[in-house]
Amino acid sequence: MKKIGIIGAMELEVEALKAKMTIENTVQKASMEFLEGTLNQTEVVIVRSGIGKVNAALCTQILCDLFQVSHIINTGVAGSLKAEINIGDIVASTDALHHDVDARVFGYPLGEVPQMGCLSFAADDHLLNLAVSCCKEVNPDISVYQGRIVSGDQFISDKKVKESLIENFQAFCVEMEGASIAHAAYLNHIPFVIIRAISDKADDSAEMDYPAFEKAAAAHSAALVEHMLPLI
Ligand code: ADE
Repeated sequence: MKKIGIIGAMELEVEALKAKMTIENTVQKASMEFLEGTLNQTEVVIVRSGIGKVNAALCTQILCDLFQVSHIINTGVAGSLKAEINIGDIVASTDALHHDVDARVFGYPLGEVPQMGCLSFAADDHLLNLAVSCCKEVNPDISVYQGRIVSGDQFISDKKVKESLIENFQAFCVEMEGASIAHAAYLNHIPFVIIRAISDKADDSAEMDYPAFEKAAAAHSAALVEHMLPLI
């Protein structure tokens, strides 16, 4: 049976979805609150993971173990790594990788976790296609892109660091959780997609732009997730 785990790192990334769902059960685990119930006629578990890769990986494993979710969606905001991807636009993941993993000394490409057998974790095609088609319906004024998302335990607000991420990974946007959700979903054989709305350009203006745009950007991503649920 279909049960969708929905993860947002911060409260503002999940608050609209939580407010709209019918809550049947609340479970506390690892200092996170998992809300079980229905949203848009679909069984869901919605949770705020906390920020960063460790929180997100723990959260994903709990969704698999305790709730036996069938699919995982990560909703939230990100910094753009492409000039044409503007604040408010949406990026849906084709794949995700850890930009802060470096085992090149052993011959692995930058970003590859040793002995995993893959550089990046591929998103589910059905979830990705749904995210793109639903975005065009729900947010017709916003551009939606499909591409690689990179994650690390750093807020990127430096033009030089941004340029190195673009050169090394050809990524569309950067955030702090997606790759570890993807990684944990991959290990558990659970289909996933990451959906991120752009809150800043991950450069020297990010510190100013992020607080100004995070709320509206998070709302775009959440509206899209709600819309796609019954179609999964
Ligand atoms: N989330 C939103 N913007 C970000 C940035 N610039 N770096 C990392 N995570 C982000």
